Amino acid sequence: MSKVKIVETVLRDAHQSLIATRMPYSEMEPILDKMDTIGYHAVECWGGATFDAALRFLKEDPWERLRNFKKHFKNTKLQMLFRGQNILGYNNYPDDVVEAFVRKSVENGIDIIRIFDCLNDVRNMKTAIDAAKRDKAHIQCAVSYTLGEAYTIDYWCDLAKKMEDMGADSICIKDMAGLLLPYETEKLVKALKGAVKVPVELHTHYTSGMASMSVLKAIEAGVDIVDTASSPFALGTSQPATEVIVKALEGTEYDTGLDTNKLIEIAKYFKPYREQCLESGLLSTKVLGVNVDTLKYQVPGGMLSNLVKQLSDAGAGNKLDDVLAEVAAVRKDFGEPPLVTPSSQIVGTQATMNVLTGERYKMVPKESYKLVKGEFGQSVRPVDPEISKKILKGESPITHRPADDLKPRLKEAEKEMEVYKKQDEDVLSYVLFPEVAMEFFKYRKAMETGVDERLYDKSNKAYPV
Ligand code: CO
Repeated sequence: MSKVKIVETVLRDAHQSLIATRMPYSEMEPILDKMDTIGYHAVECWGGATFDAALRFLKEDPWERLRNFKKHFKNTKLQMLFRGQNILGYNNYPDDVVEAFVRKSVENGIDIIRIFDCLNDVRNMKTAIDAAKRDKAHIQCAVSYTLGEAYTIDYWCDLAKKMEDMGADSICIKDMAGLLLPYETEKLVKALKGAVKVPVELHTHYTSGMASMSVLKAIEAGVDIVDTASSPFALGTSQPATEVIVKALEGTEYDTGLDTNKLIEIAKYFKPYREQCLESGLLSTKVLGVNVDTLKYQVPGGMLSNLVKQLSDAGAGNKLDDVLAEVAAVRKDFGEPPLVTPSSQIVGTQATMNVLTGERYKMVPKESYKLVKGEFGQSVRPVDPEISKKILKGESPITHRPADDLKPRLKEAEKEMEVYKKQDEDVLSYVLFPEVAMEFFKYRKAMETGVDERLYDKSNKAYPV
């Protein structure tokens, strides 16, 4: 039995899950050199929501953050999360953008790219996989874990095999909602280890209180790598604690070989910042406990709180059980998509409307139309033909890869933002988040020149004095 490897998530998913991705680089930098001596398999430090949050809220250039990580992590691999054709955004982008984004990520320091698609439609992952292969990054493909009739062990094994055939260097079970139960995890890991030759990694969340147990059962079942977070930013909606998992395995056949005392030093560093986040309210005790509703309804915690809010806004707080039953029915109608962003919101909103209007599909939001039309990709099962007819009003769904309809975008985008361009990477920031990036460029220029264009008064054609 080989050693279990650890991926530390405190620089990405842990703070994305607990404090809305608001940890600035300045809070990370003082500890990076010490983290580089630990011997993690990798540090997950970039991608996911960190890109948007850095530009939008922290006024940091995410590319510069990545280059800074690379300066400090001389011995440790840098890992990022990549939403397939959605890159780090929420829409499908054309292939030229996906390819350029992968290239710039690798050029600036990324070693391992974890690629997933929210519908598990591998066509939406192919361009990113091929680009990562071209740029010699480690390609990790993630299956987005969900529950449902279609999601059998065989389904997961077939999906993982497909990913391996497409070029995956490792497979990750990505349980973003914390739905995995320990003994299910054991079965799944055993089956996947039998199905693919490449290493298997487990990424789960503590939301339902199961994660340490699931990680342990995964390890006993032969998982190669597990994701954990330094304890001040572990548990709750984040990952299990690194020091705890490492200590639990010490002296066993699964020993990680990492030094618990050094890991405790890392934890001690992050502790005052955690206290500060608790005091300011940035870290809420609400995300730190066990979400029993996740256990009860087996839907992601975030989706459930959205439903509760939608219903109470509509003065129908007592309809939650009806809506949850309708969620299951709508999900079946829509081909049983995984309940993750964006499909979780779409299914949830449609179910709420079906219940509140008293008639199923009387009102159909645009997003429901797009999902049924196939604009996000293919669902695991066909959409119910009756429902499809009703929603698409006779149009037929698309059967090709959604991004096939998109024209190249980079050249045109570069023209639009040229005056602000300081590096090629700026064009990519702009394509993904046009308004947010433009605000950031103006801010950056103001910092450099002392002239803040955001204060330009259009009616007086002047800057404030
Ligand atoms: Co996660």
